[in-house]
Amino acid sequence: MIDSVMNVKACIFDLDGVIVDTARYHFTAWRRLANELGFDFSEAENEKLKGVSRRQSLNLILEWGGITIPEEEKTALTDRKNEWYVEHIRQMTADEILPGVVDFLNEVKWAGLRVGLGSASKNARTIITQVGLLEYFDAFVDGTLIPRGKGKPDPLTFQLGVEQLGVLSSECIVFEDAAKGVTAALNCGTYTVGIGSPEVLGHAHLVIPSFENYRLAEVMQLLETATMTNSDS
Ligand code: BG6
Ligand code: MG
Repeated sequence: MIDSVMNVKACIFDLDGVIVDTARYHFTAWRRLANELGFDFSEAENEKLKGVSRRQSLNLILEWGGITIPEEEKTALTDRKNEWYVEHIRQMTADEILPGVVDFLNEVKWAGLRVGLGSASKNARTIITQVGLLEYFDAFVDGTLIPRGKGKPDPLTFQLGVEQLGVLSSECIVFEDAAKGVTAALNCGTYTVGIGSPEVLGHAHLVIPSFENYRLAEVMQLLETATMTNSDS
């Protein structure tokens, strides 16, 4: 699949949990909806919603609450949740960009690599604009481009990103915080870096806790070693 990480021409970043921490806003809004429907769910359950599309998240939450709702009524519920979520994200500022992200994006740019976004969120453009990062992106794939049933772990999100960037999958590094997102990137054939814990993201080529204190050169070196070791074994 992959020759050498030194041939990499682009990086694609997931949004939620990689560039900004919006999981708590999703949690607050979904929980409000669940409470209105007469049940609650835990923060541990909320973890399972990371990287999962809006509609799919609703289906999981309804399952946890033991509630069945006709398909035609589901859009009204996701719309309600989204209104509450948008109220939060409209307040976001650059202060909410996760530590180390801006330095890392600058390094990627200075190295002459192209930059893409690969997110399940239909609110991605609002969030990226709100925190002032839009100008960094040469390609932008968000939930508005992904048909139902083709969300992560399907590779489509990253395939479209690679296409928009005009590079090969094997010339691209994807950064992801969700297990399903890592699987999607691997299915696409990119180098894949998990941002978070190895227990959840162990299937990535490399896992780092966050961008804080990580330089691009170091990530590339670690990836080169990890993929060489993997292909030897
Ligand atoms: C992903 C989040 O990035 O986007 C999920 O990790 C979320 O939790 C999904 O459900 C869809 O987001 P939105 O903004 O379209 O509801
Ligand atoms: Mg994410």
